[in-house]
Amino acid sequence: MRIVHTIAELRQALAGATGTAFVPTMGNLHAGHLSLIERARKARGPVVASIFVNRLQFAPHEDFDTYPRTLERDCDLLRAAGCNLVFAPNEAELYPEPQVFKVEPPAALADILEGHFRPGFFTGVCTVVLKLFNCVQPRVAVFGKKDYQQLMVIRRMVQQLALPIDVVAGETMRGEDGLALSSRNGYLDASQRLEAVALSRELSGVRIELRRGRRDWSAMEEAAMQSLAVRGWQPDYVAIRRRTDLGMPTNGDALVVLAAARIGATRLIDNLELDVAV
Ligand code: PAF
Repeated sequence: MRIVHTIAELRQALAGATGTAFVPTMGNLHAGHLSLIERARKARGPVVASIFVNRLQFAPHEDFDTYPRTLERDCDLLRAAGCNLVFAPNEAELYPEPQVFKVEPPAALADILEGHFRPGFFTGVCTVVLKLFNCVQPRVAVFGKKDYQQLMVIRRMVQQLALPIDVVAGETMRGEDGLALSSRNGYLDASQRLEAVALSRELSGVRIELRRGRRDWSAMEEAAMQSLAVRGWQPDYVAIRRRTDLGMPTNGDALVVLAAARIGATRLIDNLELDVAV
């Protein structure tokens, strides 16, 4: 596995390559990321992973400075997972001057849920992802369903800008207790780690209620948020939405329930695709 830090080296390493499969990451990798690499390997071209903590998608009060940078360990994991090439640029390489051209995703998709609580987040994500796509020029790009709204936004960007890339979704990996794997789980202390599973349990609870025939979305969302709040969480949202564009459910839609909540200083997100249509 080769590790490159500049766009020029990356282009040289990929010269003549076809069918490149790409997994963009911010590093601090866990089994969830490695499952995306495994998925990328099925595409049969070279597998490229990027490691770049993207300042543009962090608000000033968020954890950009403290986000764990673990390049050496990440590269060991990627090598063992069968990745062929790692692109790990520094900020000066990817943003040699202020990034004034940005990708502005539509408000209907990007200013709701995560975008409502993290204004500008999806502009930062789309801008860096488009830039990384231009550097890597992949045929396939793999994104985890754990960041469900991100996956939707990227799919829509690829479609609207006619990028010749298949966006493939990787399933969320979970711990034995059901907690979705996330780099931010590393911020949790032992008792918060035990409590963290409550988030996925709330989502499973919504699924059970739906299977029983409940359809009063707002009351269900409210109840799940209340139940988290009683346990000491600060919930941002629990939302039952249609899968395709995260709009409000209407007849016949396949559904997903998404949630974001803070436990102590750590903000966790999760979601569950529901096997019940409206
Ligand atoms: O999901 C992430 O890790 C990031 O949002 C991404 C896609 C690598 C862009 O910085």
